[in-house]
Amino acid sequence: MVELLPEGEKVVLIAGNWKMFKTVSETAEFCRAFEPPAGVEVVLAPPFTSLAAALGHELDVLAQNVHWDDEGPFTGEVSARMLRELGVAGAIVGHSERRRLFGETDHTVGRRAAHALASGLRVIACVGELEAERERGETDEVLRRQLSVLEPHDGLVVAYEPVWAIGTGKTATPQMAQDAHAFIKSLLDVPVLYGGSVKPDNATELLSQQDVDGALVGGASLAVDQFSAICETAAQLPS
Ligand code: PGA
Repeated sequence: MVELLPEGEKVVLIAGNWKMFKTVSETAEFCRAFEPPAGVEVVLAPPFTSLAAALGHELDVLAQNVHWDDEGPFTGEVSARMLRELGVAGAIVGHSERRRLFGETDHTVGRRAAHALASGLRVIACVGELEAERERGETDEVLRRQLSVLEPHDGLVVAYEPVWAIGTGKTATPQMAQDAHAFIKSLLDVPVLYGGSVKPDNATELLSQQDVDGALVGGASLAVDQFSAICETAAQLPS
């Protein structure tokens, strides 16, 4: 279970989302070489097959998805109970790749998050607008709708990931991130991570924003040197 953070202290969380990258041996190699710095919380989300290989190091391991029942006829799904027994600490839910490519809806995201939290897992729930939605001025409306399925919980963290910034090299400006994070927190009082092309060279300005509590890192979490650099940046931020 997640511990409550000391009142008023800004604790930065850096989460690596490996997506469909890294075999068991590649995961073991990464974990041997990677040492999380003090002063920052680091979690890794490898593919299901590599979860066990990432356990036993100084960081929490998260799955990239989790079902809302403990067991049942749901081909291709994995339950919170299964993850807990393995020693997995939590799960990402509602990533835009799952929404866009695999039919995930706000409704299913809400069910996944609620059951995982009730099962004692921590949850990183992803929200974020498409480029066309931002251009039409609908960002707040989209975020409001995506957040409406989530309830505040000590184990819940939201990741704001503007879809147009994921894997594209385009990053929200620090002000855009700050505005979206402040809006999210006005609706749901939980820590909010920024995600979308976070790299060593933009981490400082993004993580320095008042309402940015950490980062969900995709591409740059796959290389030990880049991920270490982002974690070091986070560790050195004034608290
Ligand atoms: P990216 O991915 O850092 O490669 O843009 C972030 C994410 O999808 O979580």
